[in-house]
Amino acid sequence: MTIERFLMERYQSLYWHEVDYDLSESGVSPMTIRDLLGPAADAESFLATALGYPLSEGSEEVRANIAEWYPGATASQVTMVNGGSEANFLALWALLEPGDRLAFMVPNYMQGWGLGSAFGRASDRVRLRLGDGGWQLDIDQLHDAVTKRTKAVMVCNPNNPTGHVLTGAEMDEVVEAADRVGAWIVADEIYRGAELDSDVASPTFFGRYERVIVTSGLSKAFAMPGLRVGWAVAPATMIARIWERHDYTTLTPSAVSDRLAALAMLPEVREAILARTRAIVRANYPVLESWLETHRDIFMWDRPDAGAIAYAKYDLPIKSTELAERVRTERSVLLVPGDMFGLKKGLRFGFGYDIEHTMKGLSLVDEILADVIASV
Ligand SMILES: Cc1ncc(COP(=O)(O)O)c(C=O)c1O
Repeated sequence: MTIERFLMERYQSLYWHEVDYDLSESGVSPMTIRDLLGPAADAESFLATALGYPLSEGSEEVRANIAEWYPGATASQVTMVNGGSEANFLALWALLEPGDRLAFMVPNYMQGWGLGSAFGRASDRVRLRLGDGGWQLDIDQLHDAVTKRTKAVMVCNPNNPTGHVLTGAEMDEVVEAADRVGAWIVADEIYRGAELDSDVASPTFFGRYERVIVTSGLSKAFAMPGLRVGWAVAPATMIARIWERHDYTTLTPSAVSDRLAALAMLPEVREAILARTRAIVRANYPVLESWLETHRDIFMWDRPDAGAIAYAKYDLPIKSTELAERVRTERSVLLVPGDMFGLKKGLRFGFGYDIEHTMKGLSLVDEILADVIASV
């Protein structure tokens, strides 16, 4: 099997820890184990966690608590894996045969794009486009992309890198397109719960159509990427296919992650974690936006609906990878270029960490932008 390089992950893996300002991170400042255990932490009982193999699909408790977040789901419709990325990998492996096509939302976290042509024959673009009304799904392109060869439609909702949450009407169109050819929907919902303007999590695709696999985990809205907890929620027969494939990748989640995830997904704990995340993104985004406003002449963007990332298109005569490379090598600031999301001239800004530090990084980006503008 040949597979194209996953440009964004390679770029981040190589550089995020080397730069002075990592603005490539898409989550929020991480929780500690102490934060998660809470003020009345029973650290002793946590320390007594046996480091044996846990159940390979995740304990009944963790799966029941995850299911609780998806109206109508039960523990038998959930399997737990190591990160949202493993959930995506296993879901697409379970679905795609050579010859199958994957209709794929762009821009996106491009893992599914590469896997679409590795497990299947090819991936076909379905664009979100930025217009006067903000980011909108290109419905005509969606219907053109979904043909009888399409095995699955993959969306990222809330979207990485734009933060756009599909409207109910857009979700209905995705369902209609998939249903027309009997395709599955794979909905990567890892930013669900990090809404900027609502205390209610954005709607899930689970329950809107019978052939849906939702992938998610604790890395983004739940602020625990280091736990490496992911899951898939789907009809029980599809969960069985995904679980079988898990036998070939990582076998089980980690025993410690199983225990901590069961706690994190208790409804009252879950809501407290999401409230923390929402407080961070609501406090930080206006600061980033005030910086974007100072570049109104070159940037075009839309306020994200959810997540700790914003994407700005720019009007400058420089390719986005080249611009990001200048910012990295000349000022030690890491940004992700539009090229790595299937777009062209644009940059993604992460704003979920220490915002003062972020602003210092952005003042260095100002210097590079001024230089590029001066050379026009
Ligand atoms: C949309 C999306 N899905 C999945 C992942 C990977 O998640 P995890 O770290 O849980 O494997 C990311 C990470 O950036 C992401 O943006």
